[in-house]
Amino acid sequence: MFVPPIVLLALGLTFISQPGAFAPQHELVIQAIDERKAADKPAATLALASYHQTRLATEQGGSDFVVVNKQRPLKPIDYQPVNLREIKSSKSLDNSRGLQLSNQAATALEELAEDMKAAGAGKLFVNSAFRSFDYQQELFKSKTRQYGVAGALVRSAKAGHSEHQTGLAVDVSVPEQGCAIMQCFGDTTGGKWLAQNSWKHGFIIRYEKDTTSTTGYTYEPWHLRYVGVQLATLYSKTGMKTLEDFWGFSAAEFYLEETASSTSN
Ligand code: DAL
Ligand code: ZN
Repeated sequence: MFVPPIVLLALGLTFISQPGAFAPQHELVIQAIDERKAADKPAATLALASYHQTRLATEQGGSDFVVVNKQRPLKPIDYQPVNLREIKSSKSLDNSRGLQLSNQAATALEELAEDMKAAGAGKLFVNSAFRSFDYQQELFKSKTRQYGVAGALVRSAKAGHSEHQTGLAVDVSVPEQGCAIMQCFGDTTGGKWLAQNSWKHGFIIRYEKDTTSTTGYTYEPWHLRYVGVQLATLYSKTGMKTLEDFWGFSAAEFYLEETASSTSN
């Protein structure tokens, strides 16, 4: 039976919150659904209890669950997080550009980098992290000059539509392994380690291969999005490839006409 991801999420968040309920999380969720079915209590009952609250969180810039895409601008469009802080450089992480993330994402990235270095997968370099509305606007213009409009659209978000503006997205590389901010990063030791392990620290690879028709962007193995450990665990264990599919939202390959004109960039 097909169980919509939203049902899994609501159940998953409930059960993952229980002490001792660690991986494999998806099995716990499926077990919970089966148990409720056996007890003649539809799984959806529990799911619906938190459905509205959870779904609301996908619209709020300050929530780890926020879903931002070409059809879901930040509200307000020039949203700025209140809890930004500089990511700390260490033996396992190079933030020599002094970039910032929301506090919880910065902490998670620092821990991820330690884990990655300890696993022999390389020292993480932070290429880009929080970007303001104005910065993103300039970046989109610069990509347009570099690649033309069509090329820019699949590589860069318009201001107000970038996950970087939430303080929860970060572009990373491992300089000594090459392929920085290139698709071949996905084939490096570091890129592979991130694809397999970043969920443990609450990150997902937001723009996976062959998802352009849903996200509107080409493959970006370097773009990590912090969604929190619970959601990232469930996302990874249920084999999801996009947040749009996970939440059951419409594909957002293109901007809606009214959105594009309202953002003036
Ligand atoms: N490169 C991603 C899509 C951004 O600009 O947010
Ligand atoms: Zn990015």
